[in-house]
Amino acid sequence: MARKFFVGGNWKCNGTTEEVKKIVAVLNEGQVPPPDAVEVVVSPPFVFLPLVKSSLKPHFHVAAQNCWVKKGGAFTGEISAEMIVSLDIPWVILGHSERRLLLNESNEFVGDKVAYALGQGLKVIACVGETLEQREAGKTLDVVAAQTRAIAERVSSWENIVLAYEPVWAIGTGKVATPAQAQEVHHELRKWLHDNVSAEVAASTRIIYGGSVSGGNCKELATQPDVDGFLVGGASLKPEFIDIIKSSE
Ligand code: G3P
Repeated sequence: MARKFFVGGNWKCNGTTEEVKKIVAVLNEGQVPPPDAVEVVVSPPFVFLPLVKSSLKPHFHVAAQNCWVKKGGAFTGEISAEMIVSLDIPWVILGHSERRLLLNESNEFVGDKVAYALGQGLKVIACVGETLEQREAGKTLDVVAAQTRAIAERVSSWENIVLAYEPVWAIGTGKVATPAQAQEVHHELRKWLHDNVSAEVAASTRIIYGGSVSGGNCKELATQPDVDGFLVGGASLKPEFIDIIKSSE
């Protein structure tokens, strides 16, 4: 089954209004493949969602970087899935390791968030990944399987989920996973989906890699059979993001 290549840009907590306008201009001027070849989703901080959505060319889509676990209310500082939907923003990133580790978001909490966001009509980039300590202890596959299981136990469809494998030790460090390391975990994640959800879900779900992806390393990573794209942090703020978008060509 052909899986459309997917490139996400996670801007994280970066940018001012003027800086965001410059990034949008670079994206709009970039020579990128047509939407039927590559799906591109950029994720600015919440405050810039309307600006980015209204100023990006239509073949770029937009994601929020998080959303609350249930209907909005007395949850100061949170953003609800309903709010994101009301902005006509189709995607949300959930379970990013920076939230799992810094804000103690458990596997179950992330699973509940994914289920709620899907229920509100959002599409989800769901992040999994192990720490260096867990990798060095040989627990990588156990960790990402548990994170994926917590999602699978709560959702009835994977149609609107993109699974992002982001080894924590590669995020923001410049220590990108080797193509073999990425392929191994992506293959095991796809096998987990096959064995625990269905063959169809395993075949159709995009599994993307994140962690120090750059214009220099994306091409070789993109050649791996189970790498269906990327979730890019730092490099998504730079012109080289265009090269990453084109990496599957
Ligand atoms: O969500 C993507 C992010 O965690 C990767 O960050 O800067 O290593 O590309 P970076």
